[in-house]
Amino acid sequence: MKKDFISIADYTREELEEIFDLTRELKEKTKRGEEHHLCKGKTMSMIFAKPSARTRISFETGMYQLGGYALYLSPNDIGIGKREAVKDIARVISRYNDIIMARLFDHAHILELAEYATVPVINGLTDYNHPCQIMADIYTILEKRGHLEDLKITYIGDGNNVANSWVNLASKLPLHLVICSPSGYEPDAATLTRAHEADISRIEIEHDPEVAVKDADVIYTDVWASMGQEAEAEQRRKIFMPYQVNSKLISYAHDDVMVMHCLPAHRGEEITDEVLDGPHSIVFDEAENRMHVQKAIIVKLLENR
Ligand code: CP
Ligand code: NVA
Repeated sequence: MKKDFISIADYTREELEEIFDLTRELKEKTKRGEEHHLCKGKTMSMIFAKPSARTRISFETGMYQLGGYALYLSPNDIGIGKREAVKDIARVISRYNDIIMARLFDHAHILELAEYATVPVINGLTDYNHPCQIMADIYTILEKRGHLEDLKITYIGDGNNVANSWVNLASKLPLHLVICSPSGYEPDAATLTRAHEADISRIEIEHDPEVAVKDADVIYTDVWASMGQEAEAEQRRKIFMPYQVNSKLISYAHDDVMVMHCLPAHRGEEITDEVLDGPHSIVFDEAENRMHVQKAIIVKLLENR
């Protein structure tokens, strides 16, 4: 296992599958109410430079269930990269805690944190990617369908951190991934190039939403303006409106299409109420699996230390 969990692209297919196997085991134990204190006495600092519900709650609860303890550090606490240099805080926390989880703006900061920390660092979202999210997402799809072969997964909306992590996953697991974003809002170009070069998945960029979702097995969307892009929200609403996931759009997909969203959703923007609350939506299973997958990641990272 690597020291850190910063990007899915850093992992091999076998390592990702090991994480999913452990996720299944831990989820079953949790459901049975069976104690699984695999991180007894271990502590984790959670640094948040941005808001969060799922990431904070699932990591904090997960660490408790593993017999450890997690500390929440809010956007006002550390001031990473502002009040204090990233490398200093990395070295300080490494003296107190066994593992760090961080949600930061600048991806370079999480790389620096991992470089200077002597304990494992988990990426809880940066402007560039959101690997824990996509691990939970693909685990949810596997749980529902049992395989990835012949599944068409369409990501529709902004080519943001969540989309970049989908592309990174496609460089490791064989997917049929269609990305449908307005022109100029596609995922990171270098990430797409690397994924194409890996030649493991069929990755398509499509600008027409109806074509993109045709016969899709999974339709995935995320907010049009991510945290930190609030000033662009109004302008983005106009550009992205044709990309809204609504009943009409999902009618072009397979009858049993599964609709996913990392949440929080901006209801009435990227996704309508009737779809989010409707029978195709698996968003709450997806949200639940964040915790099970992240527990597996924590255990794996701490296992050999
Ligand atoms: N999906 C997700 O990461 O949610 P939060 O921003 O609430 O943590
Ligand atoms: N793209 C969103 C994801 C939130 C979990 C954001 O960065 O705000």
